[in-house]
Amino acid sequence: MVSVGAPAADDVWGRLDGVIAEQEDVFLKRQRRAGALLERAKQSLAGGVTSSWQISRPQAVWLSHGAGSKIYDVDGTEYVDLHGGYGAGLAGHAHPAVVTAVRRQVGRGTHFAQPTEAAIEVAEELAARFGLPLWRYCNSGTEATMDAVHLMRAITGRDLIIKVEGCYHGHHDSVQVSVAPDAEDMGPPERPASAASSAGIPEAIVGLTRIVGFNDAAAVARVLEEFPGQVAGMIVEPIMMNAGIVRPDDGYLATVKDLLHRHQALLTFDEVKTGLTAGPSGATGIVGVTPDIICLAKAIGGGVASAAVGGTAEVMAHVADGRYEMVGTFNGNPLAMAATRAMLLEVATPEAYEHIGRLSARAEQGVECHLAAAGVPAHVVAVGAKGCVTFRADPVRCYRDFLAIDDRYNHAHWLVQHNGGVFLPPWGKTEQWLISVQHDEADIDRFVENFAKFTAAVWG
Ligand SMILES: Cc1ncc(COP(=O)(O)O)c(C=O)c1O
Repeated sequence: MVSVGAPAADDVWGRLDGVIAEQEDVFLKRQRRAGALLERAKQSLAGGVTSSWQISRPQAVWLSHGAGSKIYDVDGTEYVDLHGGYGAGLAGHAHPAVVTAVRRQVGRGTHFAQPTEAAIEVAEELAARFGLPLWRYCNSGTEATMDAVHLMRAITGRDLIIKVEGCYHGHHDSVQVSVAPDAEDMGPPERPASAASSAGIPEAIVGLTRIVGFNDAAAVARVLEEFPGQVAGMIVEPIMMNAGIVRPDDGYLATVKDLLHRHQALLTFDEVKTGLTAGPSGATGIVGVTPDIICLAKAIGGGVASAAVGGTAEVMAHVADGRYEMVGTFNGNPLAMAATRAMLLEVATPEAYEHIGRLSARAEQGVECHLAAAGVPAHVVAVGAKGCVTFRADPVRCYRDFLAIDDRYNHAHWLVQHNGGVFLPPWGKTEQWLISVQHDEADIDRFVENFAKFTAAVWG
């Protein structure tokens, strides 16, 4: 569906390579102090960064501060922040409600390892939004999904879990399986292999995680039948958000829940990314299926490390009576609770979601308009505050569809946006933009204008 006059496919690759080379050059020349910091950092920080996913091509971005919808790099450049700290920045930067709550709590003590009243208010609000009655806290998405997997195993007394190919659930052993497998490690689509996603994951653990494709309920049925009485449960992102954005087919999650329950196994939704960003009640509120366990992190803390695990009364009885000890020195930390309370009660309000919805529609329409004008076989997928451009004509239904998309589109797009003053997440193909409550129309327009420059450079 290429428009008349659009370049042939071979030409597109050549142009993409050209855009990448030119834009990387501009990027490096703009960020000389960042380059110097990186060289210094390499002497004391492994790899020169504080998390491996802060490495970006051609160089990590070093920031000095953020305010509202903007962030500023150490070379003094302002960016519209659509990176959002990998999906945590729904509040934007220095949101007054979060600043006030944190400032107040800092003056009253930042750590007790005993519960505070805010912990109850947060749990009550999470219960109302997500439809699960009982909650506990931890500090990161990784901890939340680790507790969820432990809980499913503890409750059922079974060892196997089912995980979806291409879903990332954090960096603990049981879920570091088939996160972003290469084509040669994937196995056949009807029987995906369990492939370790990192060095250091014991084979014995990898084998306990059985892999299925997203949107493939028949595969879940097959695993349950092949391993009768051995599957503790399944962990899944209800809307996949580590392979661009992949929506569940109608009925997929309800069928999966039903299958699991028929086999006395449990269902966990990993809403670490979708949590408050997909909508006020996360993806759970959108798909209309309430799982046994929900994991939250990222955006719920308003920029402070905060995570939560919710469960049905039956599930959480195992925590309440000590059959599963859910522990952590910093769980329910008062600073995290103060920020989370502010986030839930003062930031993530109905008006905020309306505002974000308007901006999201503006971004989607703007990008779609330029895609259509240039005849680019791509489309926008937007859910709540999140969105991405998928560089293929047909919707992506699972990781294997996603894998077939060439990385160069997103990298070239990321560079054009960055050099044009808009910061998207560096791992462009897997990640999404995040619109915060503090963004405005001018921010979205800057993003759309850069997108037009990108399509003109590649398809013009
Ligand atoms: C869906 C999902 N689950 C879990 C995690 C892990 O969260 P954290 O980085 O806070 O450990 C992530 C992180 O990106 C994620 O996207």
